[in-house]
Amino acid sequence: MPSHSWLLLDRESPRYRLPDDLRAHDPMAGHDCGWVEQMLPFVRQFSRPGDTVFDPFAGFGTTLLAARLEDRLALGCEVDAGRIDLIRERLARHELAHGTTLLHGSCDALDDAALPPFDLCLTNVPYFGCRWTGAPSASQLYNSQSYAQHLDGLRNVFHRVRAGLREGGACIAMVENIRLGDRVLPLAFDLARILGSLFSMEDERVLVYPHESDETDADTRTDRRHEYALVFRKQRERIDLQGTADLLDALRAQGHAFTLFGSFVRWQQDPQSPPPADADIRVDPDPQRLDALLQYLRDQGFALTSWGDPVPLPIHFDSYRGRYYFRADRIDDQGALIRLDICYEQ
Ligand SMILES: C[S@@+](CC[C@H](N)C(=O)[O-])C[C@H]1O[C@@H](n2cnc3c(N)ncnc32)[C@H](O)[C@@H]1O
Repeated sequence: MPSHSWLLLDRESPRYRLPDDLRAHDPMAGHDCGWVEQMLPFVRQFSRPGDTVFDPFAGFGTTLLAARLEDRLALGCEVDAGRIDLIRERLARHELAHGTTLLHGSCDALDDAALPPFDLCLTNVPYFGCRWTGAPSASQLYNSQSYAQHLDGLRNVFHRVRAGLREGGACIAMVENIRLGDRVLPLAFDLARILGSLFSMEDERVLVYPHESDETDADTRTDRRHEYALVFRKQRERIDLQGTADLLDALRAQGHAFTLFGSFVRWQQDPQSPPPADADIRVDPDPQRLDALLQYLRDQGFALTSWGDPVPLPIHFDSYRGRYYFRADRIDDQGALIRLDICYEQ
């Protein structure tokens, strides 16, 4: 793949295009099908022959076909049974059905026995507002009733992706911001925030599609002239170790009660052990003390989040029960990161 930040996709090769007869069988007439050409450069750059490429929203198997064309194993989840059959038929026509595993359903419902580990996750996410007309399914994200529910569904899926992705593997999501009614929804940017709470951001590519006509989607008025490929990686964050130790000292000096545990303690006891990716502290679940601690951190320039969502102060503690921890991140003007995970539940 070229090293510049955009990828111009001229035309879809008729050789790999979803065949018209298969398109005709689909409730959305294959309207949401991507291009093999779009996926190939990412398969080549972010995986090796023999690796497993996973698409949690397999759709018509475009990613899976690109993976098989490059001698990777293909693994896909798709919530619509009709599309699973369609993928099988499409890959069989290319004589590439072997080396492919198709799972029916949403990956967040699958345990480790059902979903084998994979080396690369490469996908096009379902768009909010697409109005699915096929067989109903509670996990079908095309049918999300609200934008917030849609983002929650995406978060659940990518949370599961993180668990199945091998350490060091890339998670790449293709997505654009969408026009819905008379507003623009920043789906690409909201998804980047969700992925940023699960992985480390590595890169972005803008995929550009020169269109000959002015056709747009009647419902969402999204014409896919460009989209983002958001490139994230599952890896331990490098943190500012001295800055973290200084922060912990400052918290003690300010009278904030906490117990330090986990990898930061282990590294302090044995500096030859792997460097920690954060500092975990345990605190009493006392709303007033938590507020004081979070307020102090915010005053020091920390961003406060709970599972990727910003945390407004003072906290409404009850709404965070069951979420276990707050995250406080501070990135300085040199790019150095201090990350504190504040656990208030076991
Ligand atoms: C944008 S399409 C993917 C198209 C695919 N990349 C291709 O070009 O062949 C999104 C797909 O996600 C599926 N989907 C929606 N919610 C899902 C979920 N929770 N788990 C798995 N698949 C889901 C939809 O049925 C749809 O086929």
